[in-house]
Amino acid sequence: MLALAVIPVFLSTVLAVATKRSSRCDLSSARIEVPWNQTQLVAPSDGPSFIGVAIGFQNYTCGSAGNYSNVGAVAELFDVSCLYGKAEFDSVQQIAYDAWKFSLPIVPFSEVIEKVETFHASPLLGQHFFIPSPSGTGISPVWNFASAALAGHADAFVLAAKVGDVPAPTGPPNVDWLSLNRADGNLAKQIFRVATVGGLPPSSCKPGTPPISVKYASTYWLFGSSVQQ
Ligand SMILES: *[C@@H]1O[C@H](CO)[C@@H](O)[C@H](O)[C@H]1NC(C)=O
Ligand SMILES: *[C@@H]1O[C@H](CO)[C@@H](O)[C@H](O)[C@H]1NC(C)=O
Ligand SMILES: *[C@@H]1O[C@H](CO)[C@@H](O)[C@H](O)[C@H]1NC(C)=O
Repeated sequence: MLALAVIPVFLSTVLAVATKRSSRCDLSSARIEVPWNQTQLVAPSDGPSFIGVAIGFQNYTCGSAGNYSNVGAVAELFDVSCLYGKAEFDSVQQIAYDAWKFSLPIVPFSEVIEKVETFHASPLLGQHFFIPSPSGTGISPVWNFASAALAGHADAFVLAAKVGDVPAPTGPPNVDWLSLNRADGNLAKQIFRVATVGGLPPSSCKPGTPPISVKYASTYWLFGSSVQQ
């Protein structure tokens, strides 16, 4: 079982801004689209349990070789299930990114999203962040909705491992599209990060310079949830 002891410390800072808005829409007929010319990301044949638009940071440190390595990320996800099938759906990540890009660092993620008309029916799902890997080496990504949309469901998190990675079809400065599989938790069996906007670091850096946080937005598709709701 994953040691979740570090999670509440982080959550206490974001819970205060969680708001209750309208409910989720049925996603059984929603289908994810992945680039056609690759084999890293394989689209599941069924509908997802959740689709969230995320805004957050990708964090990097500058290595001795003069390039940046990713050292984790932090983001909040907002439910866009009710936008699926509508004209705005294809641009939700760009709309979110534009609002996020120009907001001051002190403005809470939820406040950024609440101000955008497109997201007025998009409640907070939860957070994405990294914890030390249970294996003892490196860090692992977690999505946790027990803090917000699935409050009261302690198993509504997923710790995952990357199984597929392709450069964003839209090119730099957008971070890669990813496929990840569950290692622990019941929130999802598979997670996809697609439709990324921003998040890539500069291609080089001066060794010794401090870590950087690069703003990004994306959509996350979570498949195969077994959390009882
Ligand atoms: C797939 O297509 C995209 C867009 O045309 C291109 O940028 C990318 O290099 C291609 N990837 C592969 C693996 O061929
Ligand atoms: C950084 O540069 C080194 C040496 O050129 C290379 O081996 C490594 O893969 C690079 N790391 C990243 C994150 O691009
Ligand atoms: C990433 O950067 C953000 C913003 O600077 C920071 O709040 C967060 O703690 C960092 N997370 C990690 C895992 O480095």
